[in-house]
Amino acid sequence: MPIKYDSKEMVFNIQTKNTSYVIGALNGKYLLHLYYGKIINAYGRIDDNMPTGEGCVWSGADIDGFNYSTNTLPMEYPTYGSADYRTPAFHAEYEGGSAVTRFEYAGHEIFSGKRKLDNLPATYTEADGEADTLEITLCDKLTGLEIVLSYTAFTEHDAIAKNVRVKNNGRGRINIRSILSSTTYLFDKRFELVHLTGAWASERHIQRMPLINGMISVDSKRVSSSHNSSPFLALARPETTETQGEVYGLSLVYSGNFIAQAETDYQDIVRINMGINPFGFNWLLESGEEFQAPEVILTYSQNGFGGMSGIYHKLYRTCLCRGKYRDKERPVLINNWEATYYNFNEESIVNIAKKAKSLGVELMVLDDGWFGRRDSDTCSLGDWTADKRKLPNGLEGLAKKITDMGMKFGLWLEPEMVSEDSELYRKHADWCIHINGRPRTTGRNQLVLDLSRQDVCDYIVEAVSNILSSAPISYVKWDMNRNITEIGSAKLPAERQQELPHRYMLGLYNVLERITSAFPDVLFEGCSGGGGRFDAGMLYYFPQYWTSDNTDAIERLYTQHGTSMVMPASSMGAHVSAVPNHQVHRTTPLETRGNIAMAGQFGYELDLAALNDEETETVKGQIKKYKYIRETVHRGDMYRLKSPFEGNTAAWEYVYKEQVVLIYCTVQASLLGGLTCVKLVQLDETAQYRDIETGKVYDGNYLMNVGLYFSRNKDYESKLIVLERS
Ligand code: GLA
Repeated sequence: MPIKYDSKEMVFNIQTKNTSYVIGALNGKYLLHLYYGKIINAYGRIDDNMPTGEGCVWSGADIDGFNYSTNTLPMEYPTYGSADYRTPAFHAEYEGGSAVTRFEYAGHEIFSGKRKLDNLPATYTEADGEADTLEITLCDKLTGLEIVLSYTAFTEHDAIAKNVRVKNNGRGRINIRSILSSTTYLFDKRFELVHLTGAWASERHIQRMPLINGMISVDSKRVSSSHNSSPFLALARPETTETQGEVYGLSLVYSGNFIAQAETDYQDIVRINMGINPFGFNWLLESGEEFQAPEVILTYSQNGFGGMSGIYHKLYRTCLCRGKYRDKERPVLINNWEATYYNFNEESIVNIAKKAKSLGVELMVLDDGWFGRRDSDTCSLGDWTADKRKLPNGLEGLAKKITDMGMKFGLWLEPEMVSEDSELYRKHADWCIHINGRPRTTGRNQLVLDLSRQDVCDYIVEAVSNILSSAPISYVKWDMNRNITEIGSAKLPAERQQELPHRYMLGLYNVLERITSAFPDVLFEGCSGGGGRFDAGMLYYFPQYWTSDNTDAIERLYTQHGTSMVMPASSMGAHVSAVPNHQVHRTTPLETRGNIAMAGQFGYELDLAALNDEETETVKGQIKKYKYIRETVHRGDMYRLKSPFEGNTAAWEYVYKEQVVLIYCTVQASLLGGLTCVKLVQLDETAQYRDIETGKVYDGNYLMNVGLYFSRNKDYESKLIVLERS
């Protein structure tokens, strides 16, 4: 059992293969965070290492006669009201108006495996011995409130999953204002914070900054993790690189409003908090009720950012993604969006599919515009019946023509939304999120359905199920194209209106659970105006996600590099599009567009029928190559060798079994030309590797120490090299 309990000292040592996470109950009562880092055998006495704080002059709170203050102790689950003036993990208001909580240790349980989280996405185990769980119960004696802190050690993965659930055992109702999922500490501040920031069409760019005394906070208030921020933080030493140095990672398995903070106090102790954003959150918990907060995945690595990402990639690919397509190869697809936008009919789609089929494409995806009278983004969301003007034989007729060709057929849907100009809205104007008497702000001319309502969720499940049963549909692109405003529900009572943001997420998760389990053979790809809600929560339902609406190969270097901090290549949708690129108007070589898109789930998003003969041959070759390497990209270990954020080049390596794939790209040529040396990693130094295109054979030792050289004298030039161990 990798979770050790020292009953004399009341210390828990939660071990994974290389790490220990240690907590203990000071004086048998106060649960403290003692250590997280490289694995240790035993911790010893708690109070040997505790900061005795500020002489209690200002906080005025020595506890149990010790010279400690809760303001300096690393409280494992801090609350508001007992002289801890840092940001609490838990803050609630009780009947009578008090908002003070004091948790004390009440018991614990250690068991093999992991409990499923109620209606929330979470990592899971499949076999005995994969993980062990410690659950510690804390109790607030005055109110009867009980909180269970859960820690699952994924031994081989080297990751710890934490979650929190609260139970109201008292007689009164409780108003929860904040219930975060994780608090941890760094005991010195010589760290830098790394997070992922962005916007529509430039998601998840890496930012790195030193900690300050005070707060650095990353959050979302959009009821979506959003394009602008990601529920992820890393804390690394200033000298930490891609391959060396300490780094802590935190990733929240949740898709709504979140907060991720590093708060450094005057003693240079850093409190790191992560969970649902307390802003815009409120939850009334009746006597006897429970509330489950989402899970955070913690990692610690001494092998730099690459070490951290490797842990997330494997864990998320195998213990978070689910279903048939978790392990199965995904089809090469053609999506008609950038080829036709709304302007298509059955004939033009069939023509694209025919050409695609002849090139080796396996799946034809019909994007937006097939339903209602959707000739632009101004109408019809909610009216999910085929537009007979464009598809005279309906979805079924088109799908049949595609499948008869031997291709699969897929469809775009945006089920969480409604257009003001739609039959659905005319019938159910109160089904959208709104506040009576206030204007309903539209975004992309649409409103958001109120997924806190059971009737609305049931409608969505029924509407989507009807579509999926109406034709041979093997793939769905589930889109979501705006954030929520005027947060209000026609159904919730006044005192529960502020629960809407989280209730929306619970409604969505429930809808996704019902649909994905009813249609296990359908491959679901998530999308939110590109990669706007591409987070760990979504990976539980959708094994892949449209990484960005920006399909320019050079822009994709940054977004895919940043996304790979947490997300595996198997989850990143990446397509070759036309030039000049529709988003940034850049012209890049077809070869480069192909090479960069092959770093994810590969496809095309252009009018294949418009390719000339030479381009047609190139595309044919790309598809053949991708099919040859896709298992390596999907299941292999990925290493970032060159960062576009740090230089003028990017390089990524994928290793699976005997195959190695190297993708290299120059961003801008340099005046003096010159060469970039790319040293490969994690090969067998004693083995030989053959370049399957040139036939050239290299020693593993050579590839790792001398490396391969690429010229930098042409803008946007790239190479994809496949090496096989001989
Ligand atoms: C979003 C998606 C695009 C496309 C359009 C269709 O922007 O990200 O890929 O599907 O919607 O309206």
